Amino acid sequence: MEQVLFLITIFLALYSGRCSDVYSRNDFPEGFVFGSALSAFQWEGAVDEDGKMPSIWDTFVHSNAGPTRDIACDGYHRYKEDVRLMYDMGLDAFRLSISWSRLVPSGRGPVNPKGLRFYKNLINEFRRHENELSLFWFSAWHERGSTGIEPHVTLYHNDLPQALEDEYGGWIDRKIIDDFTAFADVCFREFGKEVKFWSTINEPNMLAMGGYDWGFVPPVHCSPPFGMVNCSRGNSSTEPYIALHNMLLAHASTMRLYKQKYKDKQNGSLGITCFAYWMVPLTSSEENKIATQRAKDFYLGWVLHPLVFGDYPDVMKRIVGKRLPSFSKEESDLVKDSFDFLGVIHYTTMYIAHLSHSHHEDYVSDMSVLMSPFGNSTLVKFDVLPWGLEGVLEYIKHNYGNPPVYILENGRPTNHHSSLNDMGRVEYLHAYIAAVLKSVRNGSETRGYFQWSFMDLYEFVNYNYTYGLYHVDFSDPERQRSPKTSAFCKIEKFDPVWFPFRVGFLIQREGGYEVLYQIFSSFRPFWKKQYAADHAEASKVFHSLKAFHQWIVLQF
Ligand SMILES: *[C@@H]1O[C@H](CO)[C@@H](O)[C@H](O)[C@H]1NC(C)=O
Ligand SMILES: *[C@@H]1O[C@H](CO)[C@@H](O)[C@H](O)[C@H]1NC(C)=O
Ligand SMILES: *[C@@H]1O[C@H](CO)[C@@H](O)[C@H](O)[C@H]1NC(C)=O
Ligand SMILES: *[C@@H]1O[C@H](CO)[C@@H](O)[C@H](O)[C@H]1NC(C)=O
Ligand SMILES: *[C@@H]1O[C@H](CO)[C@@H](O)[C@H](O)[C@H]1NC(C)=O
Ligand SMILES: *[C@@H]1O[C@H](CO)[C@@H](O)[C@H](O)[C@H]1NC(C)=O
Repeated sequence: MEQVLFLITIFLALYSGRCSDVYSRNDFPEGFVFGSALSAFQWEGAVDEDGKMPSIWDTFVHSNAGPTRDIACDGYHRYKEDVRLMYDMGLDAFRLSISWSRLVPSGRGPVNPKGLRFYKNLINEFRRHENELSLFWFSAWHERGSTGIEPHVTLYHNDLPQALEDEYGGWIDRKIIDDFTAFADVCFREFGKEVKFWSTINEPNMLAMGGYDWGFVPPVHCSPPFGMVNCSRGNSSTEPYIALHNMLLAHASTMRLYKQKYKDKQNGSLGITCFAYWMVPLTSSEENKIATQRAKDFYLGWVLHPLVFGDYPDVMKRIVGKRLPSFSKEESDLVKDSFDFLGVIHYTTMYIAHLSHSHHEDYVSDMSVLMSPFGNSTLVKFDVLPWGLEGVLEYIKHNYGNPPVYILENGRPTNHHSSLNDMGRVEYLHAYIAAVLKSVRNGSETRGYFQWSFMDLYEFVNYNYTYGLYHVDFSDPERQRSPKTSAFCKIEKFDPVWFPFRVGFLIQREGGYEVLYQIFSSFRPFWKKQYAADHAEASKVFHSLKAFHQWIVLQF
């Protein structure tokens, strides 16, 4: 006979904030974090204030058509307000970057005390707040600890101090390895007490390709006929490979420093990020399948092979030949296994077709593929293709030893001037987060998900397309922030006042308990079932539901 315990639960919050009837925060493993992200140069502004010197991004933005973003979101002055909004949304974690030329204006040498104070204040702001109830969407997914929002800090987000670019060409010279490591040393020393998650370099693969082959991002190096812009300096045949090689060495040298000097004391983790399209063959021809694997090796393998196996993929060594720098034994040992986690940056999926080149001369022709956005996607409009993210996570799991992964960017752009009702973004995020859950359930070591971006930022691919959960009015001197639908996950016609009750049952059966409980999604209630081996475990389930939903439980 079944013993049925009725549990009537009264929902405390006005509004459940649930956006998905497919999964909940509880479905993710313990410790899994949800966050959002931005980067220093796209958010801070204050471009020449308080001792900050120019970065290659400032130079780039000034020389470009379109609005200059010297003020950007004015985050330098409005950070408190913004961290407040992050709390209101209930984020567990937040990804930000440190502007090298604000902290160490000349790239090496003295630390700028005002820059130092800004980052200390900012990081303290993340740690300061107490646990609090909020009405926003991420909030219903978790119980926030009392330590505030966990900062995930990226040391280099595309903004090299201009001084180092001028002095020796930045990433194409090995001097950068020592300078970057010394900059990281300052950051670990000053912020390492509060910051436990560090990423060294943002998207080295995209940076090397975009900055040194096509030249459409700073430092705008390329050589004719390869550049997408008029190339005044650079060498598209060699520099992308040299720049990426030095990024890997700088990363690995930083990891060595962290391990030797800080890890025991600070107990943090350090990783690197990798830009990861998912790629599928345009047709099922053998040639296109081979081309797809080649493109994966050129994009992902370029970064991941050295980190996991200590050398570049064979296919790259064969095609690029002498233009691909080689690792000495010592360098290979340094780079191999030099990460605690991998940061994955994923937006969309590409079709790959084989493309013949009479001769190979730059990174892109070396790869010999034609890449085109999948389905109806374009460079600024992404279809909802969540299986692409599953593909990336499965590929990393299968080919690179299933390392711990944080998804450090994922999101969907919309026209900056379109409606605040961004249901397309909501749909995209739900689908991609569900994909993460599927991957985790299938064994991926993914430990966190960061949506890009918290607010509208200066986006370099096309500044008219932004990713924010908050709209920022760039024509307003106050830079007003307005939440979009994606920030609330508010669904039309849902009036939470009508759904004040939740019901749960604890059913004892032979061999254990069933915990059956009702969840109100956007439009309708639905039931979830969980099994528990004994009463203690069943109580744990209930306890977690209680905390998670902020319920009062009345038991009869
Ligand atoms: C590059 O320079 C050439 C010659 O000065 C000019 O015709 C062309 O429009 C320029 N292209 C770009 C993309 O600026
Ligand atoms: C690029 O570097 C290679 C190797 O040093 C050299 O052969 C080639 O001429 C260079 N190309 C340009 C455009 O400078
Ligand atoms: C270091 O971190 C791990 C995992 O977060 C934790 O279990 C351990 O207690 C920490 N050690 C110290 C000394 O803080
Ligand atoms: C592309 O758009 C068409 C027409 O709107 C739609 O039927 C199709 O499903 C879309 N393809 C993808 C992959 O979303
Ligand atoms: C799930 O993982 C298994 C084993 O790692 C793998 O063979 C399978 O293809 C994965 N399934 C999906 C859908 O990725
Ligand atoms: C952005 O939109 C403005 C106004 O519609 C237009 O003039 C400009 O060319 C657009 N910029 C880009 C990069 O598409």
